[in-house]
Amino acid sequence: MTEKYSQEIQILLKDPKVSRIISENNTEIHERRMFSPGKIAAFSGGPTRLVEKPEYRFMVHGEAKNQLPDIIANHVQLIEKSSDISPEVEQEFSRRRNIGLVFSGGPAPGGHNVIAGIYDAAVAANPESKLYGFLMGPDGLIECNYMEITREIVDNHRNMGGFSMIMTGRTKIDSEEKMARSLATCQKLQIDALVIIGGDDSNTNAAFLAQHFKCHGINVIGVPKTIDGDIQVKTLDNEVLCAVSFGFHSAARAFSENISNLCTDASSTRKYWHVCKVMGRVASHLTLETALQTHVNLALIGEELADYEDKERMEKAKQAGTIDYTAYGITLRHLSRLICKIIVQRAAVGKNYGVIVIPEGILEFINEIQIFIIKLNTIIADYNRIHDLEFHKALPGLSDKLQYLRHISQGMVDKNPFPIWNQRDDELFTQLPTFFQEGLLQERDKHGNFQFSQVKTEVVIMDMVREYLDALADQGVYKIGIENQYYQNLILPTGLDAEKVAGAIFKNPGAPYLLVSPEIISLKTLKQALENHCILGPDEAIPPEIQLIFTKSRPDFNTQTHFYGYDGRGTDPSYFDCIYTYNLGLTAFHLIAGNATGQMAVIKNLEKPFDQWEPMGIPIAKLMHLEERKGKLALVMEKAIVDLDSKAFHVFRQFREKWIASHPGEPDYYRRIGPVRFSDDCREDRPLILLLNGGADT
Ligand code: FBP
Repeated sequence: MTEKYSQEIQILLKDPKVSRIISENNTEIHERRMFSPGKIAAFSGGPTRLVEKPEYRFMVHGEAKNQLPDIIANHVQLIEKSSDISPEVEQEFSRRRNIGLVFSGGPAPGGHNVIAGIYDAAVAANPESKLYGFLMGPDGLIECNYMEITREIVDNHRNMGGFSMIMTGRTKIDSEEKMARSLATCQKLQIDALVIIGGDDSNTNAAFLAQHFKCHGINVIGVPKTIDGDIQVKTLDNEVLCAVSFGFHSAARAFSENISNLCTDASSTRKYWHVCKVMGRVASHLTLETALQTHVNLALIGEELADYEDKERMEKAKQAGTIDYTAYGITLRHLSRLICKIIVQRAAVGKNYGVIVIPEGILEFINEIQIFIIKLNTIIADYNRIHDLEFHKALPGLSDKLQYLRHISQGMVDKNPFPIWNQRDDELFTQLPTFFQEGLLQERDKHGNFQFSQVKTEVVIMDMVREYLDALADQGVYKIGIENQYYQNLILPTGLDAEKVAGAIFKNPGAPYLLVSPEIISLKTLKQALENHCILGPDEAIPPEIQLIFTKSRPDFNTQTHFYGYDGRGTDPSYFDCIYTYNLGLTAFHLIAGNATGQMAVIKNLEKPFDQWEPMGIPIAKLMHLEERKGKLALVMEKAIVDLDSKAFHVFRQFREKWIASHPGEPDYYRRIGPVRFSDDCREDRPLILLLNGGADT
C-alpha cells in the first residue's frame, strides 16, 4: 500500500459517516427497538382477575392424573379486566415478586418480546419486582447460573429475533437430582414464579416443575414457543384455544421468501430442480404454510403420506383374493415414484425445472424408516440404561454400531427368540447409503427425540428419484417436450417437410409440445426412424436441426438442495409475532399475578381482529398423553400434526394440481412475496394457515 493510500484509509476510518454506515445499530434495528406493540384491552393497566372456564373440556389421560395430581384439576382461566376488584386482590396483584425466566429448546422469533411483556407488566404492577433470566436454558436453572434482567437489557432486545439475551438449551429436568437443584436455585433467589418459554417437551417440563414446586409455593407457567407450529390446542368440543405457537409465522415467512426467490431463479434459468427441506421435527405445518405462501410445484405433507394407499397394489391383491399390507403407507420407493411422476409431467411441457419442498420430519411418516427409528431409539436407550459407557461413546464408529446391531439380530446380545433387530432389519439397513445409516444411528437429543435436522433426507430421496428418472429416460418416458412453434421455426428453413419429419420422430405430432417417440433413444434409433419414413437415405447424415431437436428432448436432471431451518429460527419476528409474543408475556405475568400454576399462557382468537384476542391460561396437565421416549412410554404434551381435514389443507389440496403447472403453454403460478415488511401497509398480516383455518370471516 502506498503512503498516500494508507493516509486516505486513516482519514476514511475517522470519518463519522463510516462509523454510521457500518454501525450495528442500523435503521431497521432502530425502528424495531422503538416499536411498541399494542396491548389487548384487558392489559390496559391495573389488576385483572382469572375467571375459571370449566366448560372448556379436554380428554384427560389417566397417567396425567397419577403423575400430576396437584395440577390436574386446573381449568382454563380467562384473564379479564374488572373494575370491582377487592383491595386484597389488588394488593396481591401488585405485590413485589421475583420471577425466573427460562428459554428452552430451539430459538423462535419473538422470545425477547415475551420477556419484554413480562418485564413491563411486572414493573408496572410493582417497580420493586425483579426478573432473573436463567442462562443457557434449563441448565441455568439447575446450576443457578442467571442474570438479572434490567430495563436496559429489555429495551435492547425489544422486537428482536433469537434468544441471545439469556440463550437457550435442551436439557430436560428429568431426575430427582435436577428437580432438587432447580428448586434450590428458586429458593435461593426467592423466586415466586418461573416461566418456561418452550415447545412441547419444555411445557411438559413446566408441568412437572409446577407439580413439584406446588407445595413450596412457587408457581410455574409455560409459554408456547416453536417455529414448528406443533403446539396447537383444541378442546374436546373442537374449540381452538391456541391456534399457533409463536415464531411459526416469522420462520415460515423467512423460508418462504427464500423459496420464492428460488422459484424466480428456477423459472429464469430453467435448468434446476431446487429441492428445499424445511424444518419441522415431525409435523409438516411449516411446509404447508410455505407451499401456500409460494405455490411451489410440489410440497410433500408427511401426515398425508402416512395415509397413502397404493391403489394398483390393492387392486392386484383384491383380484388375487389376498391383502397386500405393503400397499398401505408410503415407502421411500413409492415416494420417489410420486416425485418422478411430477418431474416427467412438467418435462413433457418443456419445464425441466421446478421447486420441491420436503418437510424435515418426513421420515417419521415413511413406514420402513419410522420402524428403524423406533427400534434404534429403543436399542440405544436400552444400551445406555444397562451399560456404564453411553452407546455413542462405547461404539463410536459406524462399523462398531453395525456390528452391535448384527449381534442383536443373531441373538448374541440377549436370548430373546424374537430380537428387536432381526435379520431382515439388518439386511434392509445395510442396503441404505452409509451417510443415511449414520444419520439414523446418530445421537438422540436430551429428550430422546430423533434429530431429523441432522439427516440429509432430501439427498436420500433425490438420489432415489434420480435413479428412477434414469430408468424412465432409458425407457423413453422422461423426455422434454419441444414447443411446436420452435420446431417449425427450426425445420421450415431447411426445406424438409416438417409434418413428415414430425410423423417420423414424435409420438404426438401436431401437439403444442412435441415428444420424441419412446423408441428413439439414440442417434442410431433416430436415423433408423428417419430412414423408415423415407426422410433419409442409408448414406445420408441426420440434418443438424433434427439432431438439435433430439438433443433438446433428452433431459439432464440437475438439482440444488437447500435446507431452511436455523436461518428462519434466527430471523427477526414478523409484525404478527411481535404483537403476539408481547401479549403472551403480558398474559404470563397476569396468570402469575392471579396465582396460577401449571398453566400455559395462550391467546385465543388469533385469527380474528386484534380487539377480539382473548388471553388465557390452559392446564398443561390436561394436554398430556403417552409417547415413546428413549425406548419407553413417557407422559408428554401432545404434538399437533397437520390435520388433513383442516380448511388450510383442503385449500392446498385444491390448488396443488394447478401449481404443478404442467398443461401446455400454462405459466407457473409462483407467488412472489418479497421480504418481511415490519411497519408499512404491505406488512404480512399473519400465517395463511391461521387465516384459512379461521374461515372466510377472519
Ligand atoms: P423446538 O421444538 O425446540 O422449538 O425445535 C424446533 C427445531 O427448530 C426443529 O424444527 C428442529 O428439528 C430442531 O429444532 C433442531 O434443533 P437443534 O437446535 O437441536 O439442531
